[in-house]
Amino acid sequence: DKDLNLTGLTITVTAGPTQEAIDPVRFITNHSSGKMGYALASKALQYGAEVNLISGPVNLEIPAGVNYFPVKSAQEMLAAVQDKWPLSQILIKAAAVADYRVENIASSKIKKQAETLTLKLVKNPDILKWAGEHKQKEQVLCGFAMETENLLTNARQKMQAKNCDLLVANDLTTKGAGFAASTNVATILWPGKELSLPLQSKEDLALHILRACQELYRQKQTE
Ligand code: PMT
Repeated sequence: DKDLNLTGLTITVTAGPTQEAIDPVRFITNHSSGKMGYALASKALQYGAEVNLISGPVNLEIPAGVNYFPVKSAQEMLAAVQDKWPLSQILIKAAAVADYRVENIASSKIKKQAETLTLKLVKNPDILKWAGEHKQKEQVLCGFAMETENLLTNARQKMQAKNCDLLVANDLTTKGAGFAASTNVATILWPGKELSLPLQSKEDLALHILRACQELYRQKQTE
């Protein structure tokens, strides 16, 4: 791909799910495999970028050459992003962050007792929103959106609300899209522009996303 040259850029990618502890042996999580984020990290590296990969717990090989920052909870992921975003030109948030965590994590294993058990959940920090609030003019912030209805309308709203430059909207209702599979179906949204991509490998989609990030980054340089 002769159009893609990320040399000299530091790109931070978040990948995978977060794990929110209930007690020392249990947690709440989601189906993210990390494949989308890892594809982005390895392609960015291949095209010359310095790559920070902030990853929730996944079963994937760490791409050789990335700076790897393993995290578990959303709070840990936020701390890692707070560390790396100010030093990056581009941040791509492919992680599936848990919106809620357990308010009081039990210090020992919760015993089976009553017929019902209630867990109180509290909101997690919104990492993408934090990154949008702390974005410098020349930085490019790329979010993801996972929706099951009104995909593009909700995605556009998300893009504005979180001050993203780009948003990758996954169509979860389509076969071969979203979690776990090696393929995805997505639309890349810019302000006033959109690119709807057909079913393809997460590696090929990663290249489209990186090209879009590069284009916006170059635009910002000349503004
Ligand atoms: O990992 P794979 O199995 O390959 O699957 C890829 C994927 C489907 C997980 C990925 O492509 C994807 O869509 N990731 C984002 C999923 C998601 O959390 O979507 P959302 O609409 O809930 O969140 C929107 C954006 O806000 C995301 O960029 C997310 O990282 C971010 N977010 C959400 C909640 C939160 N507390 N903090 C955040 O930063």
